[in-house]
Amino acid sequence: MGDEEIKIGVYVCDCGSNIAGVVNVPEVVEYCKGLKNVAFADEGRWSCSVDYLTRLQESIKEHNLNRVVIASCTPRTHEPLFKNAVKEAGLNPYLLEFVSIREQVSWVHMDIPEIATEKAKDLIKMGVAKAALLEEGEEIRLPVGKDCMIIGGGMAGMNAALAVADQGFHAVIVEKKDRLGGILNHVSMVTHEHGAMPANEIVKAKKEIVEAHPNVRTLTNTEIEEVTGYIGNYKVTLKQNGNGAGETLDISTVIVATGMKEIEPVGRFHYGEDPRVITQLQLEKLLKDDALQDVNNVVVINCVNSKNETRGCCNIGCPVSVKNALAIRNLDKDIRVHVLYRDLSMVREEHFQLDAAKAAGVKFVRFPDDRYPEVQEEDGKLKVQVHDILLGREFELPADLLVLTTAFQGDETVEQIKGHLKVSANPDGFFQEAHVKLGPMDFATDGISLCGCAKSPKPLKDSIEEGIGAAMRVSIPMNKGYIEAEGIVADIDLTNCNSCSICWKRCPYNAIQVNEEKEPSVLKALCKGCGLCAADCPKECISIVHYSDEQVLAQVEAALEEDPEKKIIGFVCHWCALGGVDMAGVSRLQYPPNARLIRVMCSARVSIKMIERAFELGASGVLVAGCEFPTCHYITGNYAAETRLKRTKKKLTKKGYDPERLWNTWCSAADGPKFANVMRDMVKALNLE
Ligand code: FES
Repeated sequence: MGDEEIKIGVYVCDCGSNIAGVVNVPEVVEYCKGLKNVAFADEGRWSCSVDYLTRLQESIKEHNLNRVVIASCTPRTHEPLFKNAVKEAGLNPYLLEFVSIREQVSWVHMDIPEIATEKAKDLIKMGVAKAALLEEGEEIRLPVGKDCMIIGGGMAGMNAALAVADQGFHAVIVEKKDRLGGILNHVSMVTHEHGAMPANEIVKAKKEIVEAHPNVRTLTNTEIEEVTGYIGNYKVTLKQNGNGAGETLDISTVIVATGMKEIEPVGRFHYGEDPRVITQLQLEKLLKDDALQDVNNVVVINCVNSKNETRGCCNIGCPVSVKNALAIRNLDKDIRVHVLYRDLSMVREEHFQLDAAKAAGVKFVRFPDDRYPEVQEEDGKLKVQVHDILLGREFELPADLLVLTTAFQGDETVEQIKGHLKVSANPDGFFQEAHVKLGPMDFATDGISLCGCAKSPKPLKDSIEEGIGAAMRVSIPMNKGYIEAEGIVADIDLTNCNSCSICWKRCPYNAIQVNEEKEPSVLKALCKGCGLCAADCPKECISIVHYSDEQVLAQVEAALEEDPEKKIIGFVCHWCALGGVDMAGVSRLQYPPNARLIRVMCSARVSIKMIERAFELGASGVLVAGCEFPTCHYITGNYAAETRLKRTKKKLTKKGYDPERLWNTWCSAADGPKFANVMRDMVKALNLE
């Protein structure tokens, strides 16, 4: 925009009486008129009404405004509406700044209207200071083609491939084994409320549909050798039967459906030493092959290697143990079957099976969490000692066959594929979704989705559903033909860059690539604008559109122009932390008015320099607030912020500032009380009462 004169319009909302009932809005508007670069200021009764938005658009044109500050409710709900309105008025929407004087002022300082009015002025002054430095931004597009690779040809993978192919896209299944079907190839029967079906028939039926589909290509005995590129532009090198590099695929999207495997309980309950001790999957094979012979007493022990200090519930052990216990009784009514369990975790639709098993004579014995059954061999016979929690006494059960319901872990290729695709896995060896609630089938990296037992153990029905779900996720960009990223992205100026590699190594989205000279550049369509790279760049080469160092520092400086010793600078992430702030407002929680909050997209954006600047200018305290662990909306942003805060404290100490004046809090979007309490605690600790 060059040397054009900055002309800011400030629009202060009454929100009926929500704001105007506490804040003296006419006084605030008059104050705004005196701020540097402000060319127009106005009071709106309901700023988000159609009538007022029209007035706003007219005034932008009438006064030739080139920046807009909206002072009203929360940007988390109303920013898109105002962005759209200024866009319609011919202004780039990135030239709008939003100030929250309802959730952060009138609703939380209801009994102190004069102080609330002063705080509203301060927040708007901060918004105006930032607005003067705003630059135009734009959405970024990256083309996406119509080819999808599905890694894993189990039931989730096959269903994902069909759901992709049925939409007219091309699906390539890459399966390392010699046949499709995955873990279901090792299962005897699949049961449901209305009966049972041999697992191999289910696999066969699905396989026939997959193999007959004109849009599905199946590559068995094939593994991934190398993956380069990003959504819309992946190059995948394959290898077959352990041979070296083979065919190369050009694909746009990827679905990970690599399945899972049992954790062999070696060394527990004589497993691995005595052939009569087997796992549920080994029992499935016996049932499938009709090879259960010379057995009179079967004992099943549940929760082996699960529900302990390191692993949670295995999700499927209880229904599997009940299903197989019933299958044994149905096979031969003379075989006594005892299922030893800690808890029976069965969902409603699995209860039919439990009822059937009880009716068929399967005995269930509940043992205490801290007192697992013990297995002994005496005179060549296996005996299981168990404490029955309900009867309060010990039992000894003979076992010709001891079946261990053991936990699962991700397939052995997880580590390798994780490296190829640069995605995450959890300590249990399963792939890790981007976000439990916001991206349950996505990885952080665009264009790659996740389904089935590659994510966690689950029943067949859930795996199939997830396969279809994952296909839908990758189909969105394939259908549109592009992905579009918001214009809040990183920008690298190489002038001072010394190729330290921090930015591209720490980017959670693989959005920074390096050329042969080790010069980084941002793939803007992949960048989510969290700001982690900019905050960590030691040479300050990286800027974030709408959250540049200069813009954030201008807010800090504006906030601390008067009475800095009474103020707390709070950096809050747009997602959970600001959600918590808003929730405190919605709940009308009253807390001290000392904080001047600065919105950043993620707590990872807050650099040491920003915090130091606040202390240099005399702030009483600084708060960094982000999402609760592990739910940062940028995967690992809050972890990065926490690590950096430790470094910041050391630096502050060296510079002679009390590190105890730097606080942090990690809160959920629903946790208004937590934010209000932090405010109260900080004010008390900093002697600001
Ligand atoms: Fe809240 Fe990262 S988005 S801490």
